[in-house]
Amino acid sequence: KKPPYSLLFIFGGSGDLNYRKLIPALFNLYVDQRMPDRFAIYGIGRSEYTNDRYRDHLLKGIKEFSRRKDKGDGAWETFAKNVSYLQFDASDASCYTQITDCITAKEKEFGVTPIVIFYLAVAPQLVPVIAKNLQQLPSCFQRESTRIVVEKPFGHDLQSAHELNLLLSNIFEEEQIYRIDHYLGKETVQNILAFRFANALFEPIWNRNYIDHIQITASETVGVDGRGDYYEGSGALRDMVQNHILQLLCMIAMEPPLSFDANEIRNKKTDVLNAIRKITRESVHGFAVRGQYAGGWMMGKQVKSYRQEDKVAPQSGVETFAAVKFYIDNWRWQDVPFYVRTGKRMNSKATAISVVFRPAPVFSFPQEAAETWRSNRIIFSITPEADIRLRFQAKRPGTAMTLNPVNMMFKYKDEYEVAEPEAYETLLLDVMEGDATLFMRSDQVEASWKVIMPIIEAWQSRPPIDFPNYSPGSWGPEDSEALIARDGHNWITLP
Ligand code: BG6
Repeated sequence: KKPPYSLLFIFGGSGDLNYRKLIPALFNLYVDQRMPDRFAIYGIGRSEYTNDRYRDHLLKGIKEFSRRKDKGDGAWETFAKNVSYLQFDASDASCYTQITDCITAKEKEFGVTPIVIFYLAVAPQLVPVIAKNLQQLPSCFQRESTRIVVEKPFGHDLQSAHELNLLLSNIFEEEQIYRIDHYLGKETVQNILAFRFANALFEPIWNRNYIDHIQITASETVGVDGRGDYYEGSGALRDMVQNHILQLLCMIAMEPPLSFDANEIRNKKTDVLNAIRKITRESVHGFAVRGQYAGGWMMGKQVKSYRQEDKVAPQSGVETFAAVKFYIDNWRWQDVPFYVRTGKRMNSKATAISVVFRPAPVFSFPQEAAETWRSNRIIFSITPEADIRLRFQAKRPGTAMTLNPVNMMFKYKDEYEVAEPEAYETLLLDVMEGDATLFMRSDQVEASWKVIMPIIEAWQSRPPIDFPNYSPGSWGPEDSEALIARDGHNWITLP
């Protein structure tokens, strides 16, 4: 089944996200015959392009970033006929008539009312400006077939996120607003729901009685890569924890949904966020660690320190690494720690969730039987490999009773021949189809800001004195090891 006829207006049409992610994702969908039979994509930006030059520019992005780049049978040419460029300044209300003209023309051409999607891939300060200008467009908002997609960051703190929610809710119905978090479009992330709620095996032990603790790591090898101006106003906590990491935590920790209705799933996730124990500003140092990368050698090349990056203050106190210990105060998770960490310029690009079980209650083997005695674990690996692995103790072949840990692994690549779709493919398709399950509702966004505000405030009030405090290519600052070692655990790194 294909989505209904759609028009996509992409603000930030000459920007990086559109180039690297959105257009490649839309093209992949097209090649896989998942795009609507009739559609049109309009990139909106201030840079100067003719339609042809715009398409040439996007084709370069396809060649680099599309998983279907090898489609040499003219797919791009037919796809690109549906792509055009509107050059205008999004803050100038008088330019928006161009949008109305496009909609009217396409309505005539298609013979039906298409879905109209406004995708805001722009700097956060432009979101309210564009929303207000869109509000002036005649008739656009009377219908539920108009949707607005808002990229992260959604607000800069609780207050600004709340204000943005208010502003958007004055213009759109909640059902029309798609707050995107691309982690929710990743295959393994969605598979957490299947794993937990389509099997009878795991859910009975998915609680404080059997689970010792949970770890979430989202490490990156890249630095801020030319995004210094954005990152200076953000930092790791706002960039990754407030959204992606807390969403992963919700998927792992939520109660079983009664149905796959978008609101039901989002209710259950919001319950988790609301149950996260508030860290007081005074106790932040016991729960959260921040870091910033130094310069040095990494993967065979010299890399700059964060403070030397373009558009970064030479004495910047912005964190490029954050580790936090959370607790969820409910029946299922009381006193089970959730350790999360994320950072730039770390040892490897890896996103994984490790569920560590309690040890067997009695060890009835002789002490020397176990070479390494480790608890059972289930690890959801999201990047670089999408897989799920279960670790348990097994007997080593031989006459002696010797145990060692082994893995049972489900690998997407081995099991399914089709390539997993990119997160943005899934999410763009969902917007066209009107399925908001994998998008954030206003209360969810505010609830996650509430969780991290005390950390932000505590860090703001005490500038760091030890930055930079980790080497590029490492696993972050020493304090991060100490945070988890205090409770007798180690960070798990995947082989
Ligand atoms: C983005 C952050 O949301 O996620 C980036 O703004 C980060 O700083 C990126 O690099 C990571 O996404 P992924 O899909 O590569 O893990």
